[in-house]
Amino acid sequence: MALAGLGFGGGMQARDLSSSAKERDPVSGREIYVNTCIRCHGIDGKGALGINLVPKPADLTSAKVQDHLDATLFLRIHDGKVNTAMGAWKHALSDDEIWDVLAYVRTLTGPRESAP
Ligand code: HEC
Repeated sequence: MALAGLGFGGGMQARDLSSSAKERDPVSGREIYVNTCIRCHGIDGKGALGINLVPKPADLTSAKVQDHLDATLFLRIHDGKVNTAMGAWKHALSDDEIWDVLAYVRTLTGPRESAP
């Protein structure tokens, strides 16, 4: 048996977090978004009408949000933001679901295409 030492299966490494090689599904992400995020962030990601939170839900289409690395946004969704209404979703969503919903959030920018 000479299978040892191939270097695969070593568990998740830090660079996997920022790698775009991971499979993501914005279509199932959209479903998650509609079910869990829309009441604060709105259908278009710009914030729900009539909601009165301090601070306001982030405008997910803004450069301020979109300029963050995937890994940063992943952790924001995973762990939430202290002292804001943005909760930690790690209990409600699996890592894969968070990647999917993030893939959907990346589609909210309008004409801006994702990097090649
Ligand atoms: C209860 C309301 C609420 C829900 C539900 C909610 N958010 Fe948020 N979210 C917020 C608020 C408020 C902020 C802004 C926090 C701030 O100003 O720093 C925010 C910020 C964010 C940010 C930006 C973080 C940053 O640092 O720029 C992202 C990305 C985000 N939310 C994604 C999501 C996703 C994806 C979901 C669904 C899984 C979701 N949110 C559900 C209230 C909510």
